[in-house]
Amino acid sequence: MLSKMQKALIALLSVIILFLGFVIVRIGFKPISTVKVAAIPAGEYDPAVWGQHYPLQYESYKKMYEMSPSPTGYGGSVKVQKSEAQSELFANFRGMPFSEDYAEERGHVYSLEDLRDSKRISKASKGACISCKTPYVEQFYQESGWGYANKPLKELLDRAKHPVSCASCHDPETMSLRVIAPAFIDAQERRGIDMSKATREEMRTYVCAQCHDEYYFEPGTSRVVLPWDKGMRPEEMYAYYAEKPNGFTQDWQHPDSKATILKAQHPDYETYMTGTHGKAGVTCADCHMPFMRKSGQKYTSHNITSPVKNLDSSCSPCHSQGSAWLLERVKTMQDQTWQLQHNAGQTVARAHEAVKKAGDSANVDQVELAKARELVRKAQWMWDFVAAESSMGFHNTDQSMATLGQANELAHQAIEAANRAAGIKVL
Ligand code: HEC
Ligand code: HEC
Ligand code: HEC
Ligand code: HEC
Repeated sequence: MLSKMQKALIALLSVIILFLGFVIVRIGFKPISTVKVAAIPAGEYDPAVWGQHYPLQYESYKKMYEMSPSPTGYGGSVKVQKSEAQSELFANFRGMPFSEDYAEERGHVYSLEDLRDSKRISKASKGACISCKTPYVEQFYQESGWGYANKPLKELLDRAKHPVSCASCHDPETMSLRVIAPAFIDAQERRGIDMSKATREEMRTYVCAQCHDEYYFEPGTSRVVLPWDKGMRPEEMYAYYAEKPNGFTQDWQHPDSKATILKAQHPDYETYMTGTHGKAGVTCADCHMPFMRKSGQKYTSHNITSPVKNLDSSCSPCHSQGSAWLLERVKTMQDQTWQLQHNAGQTVARAHEAVKKAGDSANVDQVELAKARELVRKAQWMWDFVAAESSMGFHNTDQSMATLGQANELAHQAIEAANRAAGIKVL
């Protein structure tokens, strides 16, 4: 039997252990609490000014200037043309600027430079293009609401002095995470998500989701809209577009097949959301912004790039298999996605040719031809949903493979419909 004294001691010890545990958890998982917050004035978009107060984060942010390939052979931050490895990009994007310039993306510090240098922009380009390239979008939106989106891009580019940087993700006064991209804020509202109630974990994904997603420009106003009203899977977004939302029907018409085509734009957030890690609540920052240590200080890495360059910091907090195993897994998932993607992309290119041939032939069956055009439009969307996504299938391998399988099947159906339209019999 324990004496009263012993019982009291045990109770006291338990309280002390609980308290110490609490302290360890606070220090261990809340790095922000160890940072002294300096109130930076609203509208300060220069990362160097923020960097005076937060040197560790700023030093790691500047590492994004270094460009290097990824050990997987995909991704990486070297600016190469994607068409070098995928000639089907020329065929499938014929008649629109992506067939001329479709470079691999690189670090955030280059976002404005790469927009300025892109062959995809012209005198006619609208301000909407700047939405995800700079924190100045906050100022532009405060001044003229969505009116900024229809201004000439050049006018806004002349005023935007800094690329994606601290103010894109942080409240300057409190350093809490925040989102400023107007299209994301609108889309969350339509989904019934109250951003003022978002948890810290959710914000560690939302700060990225404000830019890394599929969008379209509303005809006439160039307002940026995210197509999530029916869900985030490729089928659901295709169904959303089928209803011609806000009068939007297509990004362009393919000059060969004459099909009206949708250009998918990096649906990274959508793909992640329905994948293993998204479902498990692992955030973008968990993998792309791992914790680091320098002279005993723990901080969040702001060198946002391929996590494969740093598997130990990025994955090992959750996975104990070791970096060789993880690299092999990532590479296998990507190699398989790449093979099927290349294959599906080439079938889509053949479908455009077959539909063109049918369209050019005398006595074409117009009903079958319309069916063929709808099939090639959908096939291209399914292929591009994966091809335009940034992780070569890693963020959601099952869905990416299934989507590419569908793209392949739809492209074959388009070829069959085109042959029927032209009266060509294939056994
Ligand atoms: C479980 C870890 C993990 C999570 C969570 C995750 N990613 Fe990734 N991401 C990866 C890996 C692995 C790659 C492949 C990198 C490569 O090929 O080198 C990648 C690639 C990328 C790339 C392309 C990088 C390059 O080098 O070209 C972008 C952009 C990206 N992710 C954005 C996001 C966004 C946005 C989110 C959240 C919506 C997210 N990721 C969530 C692991 C993750
Ligand atoms: C793309 C979004 C993004 C950008 C840009 C960004 N941060 Fe962060 N920052 C984060 C995230 C995510 C965290 C982790 C916050 C958390 O978990 O509560 C963070 C954390 C921090 C913290 C808290 C301490 C720490 O290390 O976790 C500081 C300080 C900070 N960032 C400073 C900066 C500075 C300075 C810049 C510009 C040079 C910057 N950030 C740019 C997303 C961003
Ligand atoms: C304000 C918009 C914006 C925000 C916020 C943003 N990104 Fe990006 N991100 C971009 C743009 C634009 C590029 C391409 C830049 C280029 O190629 O010039 C990019 C590129 C990347 C790359 C490629 C880097 C490389 O080395 O190839 C990764 C990875 C990435 N972002 C992940 C993230 C993650 C993770 C977050 C959130 C913590 C995030 N981004 C937040 C706009 C944004
Ligand atoms: C915050 C925790 C966390 C981080 C960080 C994390 N993972 Fe995971 N990972 C999980 C969970 C949870 C699962 C699903 C359940 C399981 O397998 O334990 C998972 C599953 C996986 C799988 C199984 C395949 C699949 O998609 O179903 C692979 C492969 C994987 N992770 C690789 C990685 C790599 C590579 C990184 C770093 C770039 C990483 N993970 C970072 C938590 C994490």
